[in-house]
Amino acid sequence: AGCGPGGTPRQRDSSAPAAPVAPVGLVFPKGFGWGASTSAYQVEGGATADGRGPSVWDVFSHEPGRTRDGGTGDVAADHYHRSYEDLDLMRALGLKSYRFSISWSRVLPTGRGTVNAKGLDFYHRLVDGLLERGITPLVTLFHWDTPQALQQVGGWQQRDCAKWFADYASTVCYSLGDKVQSWLTLNEPKTVVEVGYTAGVHAPGVRDRRIANVAGHHLLLGHGLAVQAFRATGRKGRIGAALNLSPVYPADDSEAARRQAVLADGEENRRWLDPVLLSRYPDDWLATQPADAPVRTAIHDGDLAVIGAKSDLLGVQYYNPAYVTAKGTRVQKHPTTQASWQEVYPQGLYDLLTRIKRDYGDIPLTITENGMPTVREIDDQDRIALLRDHLTAAHQAISEGVRLEGYHVWSLLDNFEWAEGYTQRWGIIHVDYATQQRRRKASADWYQQVIARNGI
Ligand code: NOJ
Repeated sequence: AGCGPGGTPRQRDSSAPAAPVAPVGLVFPKGFGWGASTSAYQVEGGATADGRGPSVWDVFSHEPGRTRDGGTGDVAADHYHRSYEDLDLMRALGLKSYRFSISWSRVLPTGRGTVNAKGLDFYHRLVDGLLERGITPLVTLFHWDTPQALQQVGGWQQRDCAKWFADYASTVCYSLGDKVQSWLTLNEPKTVVEVGYTAGVHAPGVRDRRIANVAGHHLLLGHGLAVQAFRATGRKGRIGAALNLSPVYPADDSEAARRQAVLADGEENRRWLDPVLLSRYPDDWLATQPADAPVRTAIHDGDLAVIGAKSDLLGVQYYNPAYVTAKGTRVQKHPTTQASWQEVYPQGLYDLLTRIKRDYGDIPLTITENGMPTVREIDDQDRIALLRDHLTAAHQAISEGVRLEGYHVWSLLDNFEWAEGYTQRWGIIHVDYATQQRRRKASADWYQQVIARNGI
């Protein structure tokens, strides 16, 4: 790691070769779920194919100035038209698990009402292709692409959105539920709240903390209602949320920094984990919400019981820790990747996993995302080192009794990195966007060996 923050990558593979990464000698439990992740809007393209309706990201990415170089998901990695090739790449890697998301507006072009059979068929073919290749599908229902038609009537700011989401979940879980056994409701609601509704840097581009927290509550309610809707389909399987979490550390050993770190942990972690796993908002987090904050009235009696409806698994996404000063500000203590927000601290994953077990019990965990963008397009030794170090931390947690069942690298393919457009390459497989040609990176070769050996 340590390419320095932001900016368009200049360094190419012609720069000095990095030293190859040596094996560590750690074996994972039998049946460990080695996987890779993508999301619909980031890889599919086919934005108007076969009756797909627009999502907030279609609209947002087409607005001038919203994304780097004006990138959109119109074509992305064209996975919608190349899924068989991508399935074969997955098989060659030896993947045990593939995590992808369903585009809500591909299945329901206006978010509710009539099902677009052709859209749903795409996911049936994808799932069939996975099963034929011995790969277990792990399906995310919502990875940020709210149907635009629902945004026009309020989106997640509106309580009904949770209900619309559950209706969509019911349709999809019933239809695919004879083949898919593992479901994730929401992907990273924290990012939607912080980047989509507070900073306004992601769709829908709202910059209002008060609205953001209302949307955050409705997202959680949507999670709970979707869990209920899944159970009501009678389909067998497991369902839970995918949360991005960051262990929070005081930046120094002052009492004030420690206090601020506890508060920040409320915002980063407990504010999401507590409702989903313990049916409550943390008191200290609620206390940070002003008496007249609209989120207080958004929380109705009974909501927390719904949100905390029993989950069968938890998806954990880990990219970086957080360090908090005595003043409550954030500082970085480790080198960052090309993504300036991502400081690299693999031990944070161990701290996070063991903490979840300690505070929330033994719910089965799977790492639903972990990875980095690299400037080196093919010989990505820095990615290999990062994956190896995080897997080492994960292994340590497993050996201490954490129930970690799988690991999904973000990402299978280079793809549309939201506001960063195509300037950050997160895949273990390279995509040449001019030709849509796929090419395995060094990390893909490495990961294939890891999977074959079941260890690092
Ligand atoms: C989290 C998100 O779920 C995913 O969409 C994104 O591409 C990665 N992190 C990298 O930023």
